[in-house]
Amino acid sequence: MLVSAKEMLAKAREGKYAVGQFNINNLEWTKAILLTAQECNSPVILGVSEGAGKYMCGMETVAAMVKAMDESLGITVPVALHLDHGSYDGCYKCIKAGFTSIMFDGSHFPIEENVAKTTELVNVSHALGLSIEAEVGSIGGEEDGVVGAGECADPNECKMIADLGVDFLAAGIGNIHGKYPENWAGLSFETLEAVNKAVGELPLVLHGGTGIPDDMIKKAISLGVAKINVNTECQLSFQEATREYIEAGKDLQGKGFDPRKLLAPGFEAIKAKVKEKMELFGSVNKA
Ligand code: 13P
Repeated sequence: MLVSAKEMLAKAREGKYAVGQFNINNLEWTKAILLTAQECNSPVILGVSEGAGKYMCGMETVAAMVKAMDESLGITVPVALHLDHGSYDGCYKCIKAGFTSIMFDGSHFPIEENVAKTTELVNVSHALGLSIEAEVGSIGGEEDGVVGAGECADPNECKMIADLGVDFLAAGIGNIHGKYPENWAGLSFETLEAVNKAVGELPLVLHGGTGIPDDMIKKAISLGVAKINVNTECQLSFQEATREYIEAGKDLQGKGFDPRKLLAPGFEAIKAKVKEKMELFGSVNKA
C-alpha cells in the first residue's frame, strides 16, 4: 500500500523505533525490499536517488514499476516511495510522477535560499498529500558524486527548517554515507540531543546507516531518530553473494548465466540484510 511517510514516522517516533529507508536500483532490489517488509509486517520506505532514477529510465518509470509491483505482490504494509536527496527540479519530477514522499536537500544552499525553496515545496507537497524531508548540516561521504564533509547541524537552523512544516528532518550528526573510516569519531549525541530538544516531536532521520554500531543506532532511536537510511550495506551484501555465485561457475554450461539465476543469490542477500535491519530498528510487526 503506497502511502506518505508522515504517519508511519510519527508512529515510529512515538513508539521509539525507526522505519528503514532502503534505496532501490532495479526491479530485484525493489521486489526484495517489498517482500521482506510484508514478511516482517513492517512499514518501509523505498528511497530513490536521482542517479538511480536516471538509471531506471526516469521517475515516471520508477513510480509505475513500484505501484504495479506493490499491487501484484499483494503488499498490504505501508510503503512510502521517497525521493532521496532531491534537487529542486528533482522534487517536482517526483511529485509529478506520483511519488508519495520527497526529500529536498537544500543543505548546500545559503540558509535563506534553503528556507525559501523548502517553504514552497512543503506547501506543494502537503497540498497533494505527500510527506517531505529536509536536511540541515551536510551528511558526509559521497552520494551520487556529491561529497559532503559530515558537519554537525546547528540546532537553531534545525528549528528554523522544522518550523517551515517539514514532516521529518535529517540533521547531520557526524554521520556519513558509505563506509566509516577507521578513525571515525562516532555520532555526536550531544548534537542529536540539542536538535531533538529544539524540534520537539518532529521525527529525525539518520542518513548513512551503513556501519554504525548497533548500540549507537539504538541510542539515536531513543533520542528521536525515527527513519534510518541504508544503502551501502545492501550493495555490499548483493556484491558478495553475486561474486560467490559467479566464482562457483555453476550455470555456465556453454551459454552464459541465466540472468534470473545470476541475480537470485544477491536478491536473497538483500532480503536477509533488510530483515536484519528491520529487527535492529524495531519496526517488525509495526505495520
Ligand atoms: P549508506 O549508503 O551509508 O547506507 O547511506 C544511505 C543513505 O543515507 C541514503 O540517503
